Amino acid sequence: MSQRVRKAVFPVGGLGTRFLPATKAMPKEMLPVVDKPLIQYAVDEAREAGIEEMIFVTGRGKTAIENHFDRDIELEQVLKSRGKTAELDDLQALMLDAGNVIYTRQQEAIGLGHAVWCARHWIGDEPFAVLLADDLVQAKTGCLKQMIDRYNETGGHLVAVENVPREHTNRYGVLDVVETKGNLVKARDLVEKPDPAVAPSTMSIIGRYILDPSVIKELDRHDVGAGGEIQLTDAMARTLDRVDFHGLQFDGTRFDCGSKRGFLEATISFALERPDLSDAMQDIVNRYAK
Ligand code: UTP
Repeated sequence: MSQRVRKAVFPVGGLGTRFLPATKAMPKEMLPVVDKPLIQYAVDEAREAGIEEMIFVTGRGKTAIENHFDRDIELEQVLKSRGKTAELDDLQALMLDAGNVIYTRQQEAIGLGHAVWCARHWIGDEPFAVLLADDLVQAKTGCLKQMIDRYNETGGHLVAVENVPREHTNRYGVLDVVETKGNLVKARDLVEKPDPAVAPSTMSIIGRYILDPSVIKELDRHDVGAGGEIQLTDAMARTLDRVDFHGLQFDGTRFDCGSKRGFLEATISFALERPDLSDAMQDIVNRYAK
């Protein structure tokens, strides 16, 4: 039986340059899909998966994220006095358990691996999840819950994967797959952003990980990899002589909300799923269809 996954790291220290100027004064993770910021979808997914401790690795200009999950007593009073109870309930449901949320800062955005390393003292010596809020997954059962349900079987590192077109492998961490059993793949290696011509497969990691804590020791080295950044996948690769490594082809649709196309698609798809908005969105889509 694998050790329970109780902690999740949310690296939100990136600069979001692909979304400038929107992200100049507002964190990318606060961009709303319909009426909920990206980071809230990720936190809700972690809660559904039974995560108890949430560790945010933030950076300069990211205080809106802390405020989003904090109480706003003035706003609550206004909503109460106006009888807006549904909105009040929604706000109160946002609150994270006191004492179970940590904000730490990555002083310089020098890579995802570095962001996770910044959380090392709070992770300690137990398996932990990492969720990248800009990868938004629409699924009946949340992607992280699907992973945790399989983690007992796999232990080690378990990542969410999907098959991408070969010409896109240079955007992802890609698995060197040795075995496929249903929706679970076993891998012996992984490469960050390989050229399509040499990519070991097209099975690519999306922004959900369950990691063995031994990866932290590898991150201590601060080795720089693809794109001049400290890569999480490089550190994972160095543990694979002693840690099992699996990918789960999850049920659901992933939207890369760090890109404009993915973000627009997510907005349409999530609105179409909402009972209060689906007719309106369908009407909009039909009207603009060529
Ligand atoms: P991205 O590769 O999307 O980078 O990071 P970015 O800076 O956020 O956005 P662009 O490419 O400039 O538009 C993937 C995830 O890793 C986090 C980001 O916040 C995002 O959730 N990240 C990345 C960090 O926390 N720190 C870093 O140094 C880099």
